[in-house]
Amino acid sequence: MDKLKAQIAEVADLIRNSEKVLVFTGAGISTESGIPDFRGADGIWSKYDPEDFTIQKFMSDKRARKLHWDLLSDGDLSMFKADPNPAHHAITELKNTGKLYGVVTQNVDGLHQKAGLPDEMVLQLHGDLSHARCLDCGSRFPMQTVVEWIGADIDEPVCENCSGMLKPDAVLFGEQLPFEVLSEAEQRSRDCDLCIVLGSTLSVYPASLIPRYASEGGAKLVIINLGPTELDSWADIRIEGKAGEIMPEIVAGVGK
Ligand code: APR
Ligand code: ZN
Repeated sequence: MDKLKAQIAEVADLIRNSEKVLVFTGAGISTESGIPDFRGADGIWSKYDPEDFTIQKFMSDKRARKLHWDLLSDGDLSMFKADPNPAHHAITELKNTGKLYGVVTQNVDGLHQKAGLPDEMVLQLHGDLSHARCLDCGSRFPMQTVVEWIGADIDEPVCENCSGMLKPDAVLFGEQLPFEVLSEAEQRSRDCDLCIVLGSTLSVYPASLIPRYASEGGAKLVIINLGPTELDSWADIRIEGKAGEIMPEIVAGVGK
């Protein structure tokens, strides 16, 4: 049996002998759905300056805000057309076995929910792009609606209720992560018995602490990624490859 097949069988075995499997995902799980990642080849940060995506810049610089809205309406971040890929569906399959303790994701594309996971099973550390929120009165608007406003050639979408500044619900650099989501994710990471990382460089704090907490808590750590991650030395099993090809084979192997 070649090395990859043996690794897939080993992870299937770990899942079979686990009760609480926590899956941690990054942008790499969504590239096979046509959404670019950030630091892989052709990633978002090879085309745009991350400095333009800080909360400070968003609040102070109209040009940076326009960049956000343009990307969301028809650029690289227009995720609404994307569909879940076999990696997302394999995780939903895993849920149907009763062993999925939850998914902690850094992604804002909502593809785990589109693949059938209930909201309470998906902890979105970096928020999501399904809505935009008014920074003055707190009103929330579906992003699809805001994108239509942008399409109507207005300069910058503003709140329909108070004309306040709108901001996508995704967490920007320098912004606090949603406290309850982060503490729930931390609690589950310490409590799980197996943590599987799919498609992340594990280079952004505090999200990258989650797989670390799992390992410190005694869970086995599996990392499946194209290219190196910052926690490779922590992994009990490290598989190099595409999430959309490997995860379905692992989950299919659990039932065997
Ligand atoms: N299968 C497995 N791995 C993949 C695939 C794939 N199909 N496609 C890409 N990858 C790998 C890339 O090679 C890269 O190593 O997934 C990893 C994605 O890493 P990043 O682009 O750094 O994305 P992520 O770890 O999710 O970034 C975390 O950084 O910019 C912020 O807020 C943003 O949530 C994001 C955070
Ligand atoms: Zn408002």
